[in-house]
Amino acid sequence: MISSAESTTVTQNHACEGTCSSCGLVGSCAVRTVCRCLKVAEDTIIEAIRTGGATSVRDLKLMTGAGDGCAACHRHLKQYLAIYLPPVADHSTSSPSMC
Ligand code: FES
Repeated sequence: MISSAESTTVTQNHACEGTCSSCGLVGSCAVRTVCRCLKVAEDTIIEAIRTGGATSVRDLKLMTGAGDGCAACHRHLKQYLAIYLPPVADHSTSSPSMC
């Protein structure tokens, strides 16, 4: 499980410690608490997706604990996945290879 203390993406020093709601949504506040039940911060979620290989809310639950309570944060977790998952190459429109 990745913890906020282990994450290396925190570069900002927020006086609010992630409890305010003045920052924009996804990706703007590394210390924002995304999952209030399990107290999982934004940097932990992003790290799990970028370097941990999380590709689903289930993966994020297993890796960070986020989303394993009331489930209110699931829509936010899906937003993080939509933004931070690496793009998948689409080979459906490419021409067949010539051998
Ligand atoms: S806020 Fe994440 S499980 Fe409740």
